[in-house]
Amino acid sequence: MEKQRNMLVTGGCGFIGSNFIHLVARTRPDWRVVNLDLLTYAGNLNNLEAIEAGNSYRFVKGDICDQPLVSSLFEQERIDTVVHFAAESHVDRSIVGPDAFIRTNIIGTFTLLEAARTAWAKRGGEQDGPIFLHVSTDEVFGSLGESGYFSETTAYDPRSPYSASKASSDHLVSAYCHTYGLPVMITNCSNNYGPYQFPEKLIPLIFNNSRTGKELPVYGDGKNIRDWLYVTDHCQAIIEVLEKGRSGRTYNIGGNNEKTNIEVVTLICDLLDAKIGLLPSGSSRNSLITFVTDRLGHDRRYAIDSTRLKDEIGWQPSVTFEQGIEMTIDWYLANRSWLETVINGSYQDYYKKMYA
Ligand code: NAD
Ligand code: DAU
Repeated sequence: MEKQRNMLVTGGCGFIGSNFIHLVARTRPDWRVVNLDLLTYAGNLNNLEAIEAGNSYRFVKGDICDQPLVSSLFEQERIDTVVHFAAESHVDRSIVGPDAFIRTNIIGTFTLLEAARTAWAKRGGEQDGPIFLHVSTDEVFGSLGESGYFSETTAYDPRSPYSASKASSDHLVSAYCHTYGLPVMITNCSNNYGPYQFPEKLIPLIFNNSRTGKELPVYGDGKNIRDWLYVTDHCQAIIEVLEKGRSGRTYNIGGNNEKTNIEVVTLICDLLDAKIGLLPSGSSRNSLITFVTDRLGHDRRYAIDSTRLKDEIGWQPSVTFEQGIEMTIDWYLANRSWLETVINGSYQDYYKKMYA
């Protein structure tokens, strides 16, 4: 029987965090979740409208860099588990404005670690808590050539302000384990997709533009490769790492679904043509594809070796890319108002600046 938990989830109103809270509510009803989220442009309370406040759930609007707030939550809520999602997460934004990435991803993680260390020491350094699970990215490993995979022993080689800030936070988390003995785990995951993803990211951006007949911007030659993972599979992996992972360990999480960007874009166009019909002109949505100036420093290929997760934890992805992308397109079609609210709200200025 899995133990009860008092869990601090940071960034629970974002894409992966909200999917995680939904999955916990469905499958681990004994876990109490305190969701600390600043509600930046990427945070959306609507993502969790089905989750009721009460014994199992509390939302706190606040900043992970706010040391008194973070410390008081550890005390008040007797936090025994931290799942740290909160971050600035979009590579393009980190290229035009890195400051927020340094603040939230590095200082924010440091603030949480200090609060966890203090709470842990006050409880006499219990072996089992508070366990600190840091949700990180495969981008810390840099870029692959045509062959090979990122494993847990691959050297760090971050190449964008985003990945450098995540690499810094990973190193801080490891250092707190090594120096103070704080029980930590780090997961490094590949590209996620699925419901509630903010439409600055490739898949929801292409869905929205192709549905509404706008240009589909493909960076460079469109042959950069990402290893796509359905978001619920990522969240399930995090739950299983919490339950079965070893303190001090890192785990790579990947979908074993390598696709070029142009393959992804074409698949979305084909699915939408089939589901809602061709464009009013009679053309396929593929005719909207436009090759645009490449992202600065664009990493060529990511691919994850998740053998450790499979062998030690017993996790593997449950959804293929073909299944997952269809589920995702169906979700966005059924939830157009969610997308429209986001686009007409916090996303509008950025969208105009990047794509007008
Ligand atoms: P997201 O941008 O959708 O959500 C980030 C959330 O963090 C938002 O709700 C935002 O309001 C909140 N937040 C931002 N700054 C905050 C602050 N200072 N204090 C409190 N809350 C703050 O991000 P996501 O795509 O859900 O990613 C979540 C985590 O997973 C990130 O750490 C990211 O690096 C990591 N990750 C993402 C992917 C991916 O494909 N999206 C893959 C691997 C790892
Ligand atoms: O690998 C994990 C990472 O995946 C996470 O750590 C990041 O938080 C997440 O944003 C994601 O980073 P990417 O940069 O890979 O995702 P993005 O959706 O921005 O881009 C995916 C690919 O598509 C990438 O090669 C760039 C390309 N692209 C993206 C956009 C937004 C385009 O060609 N056109 C676009 O308009």
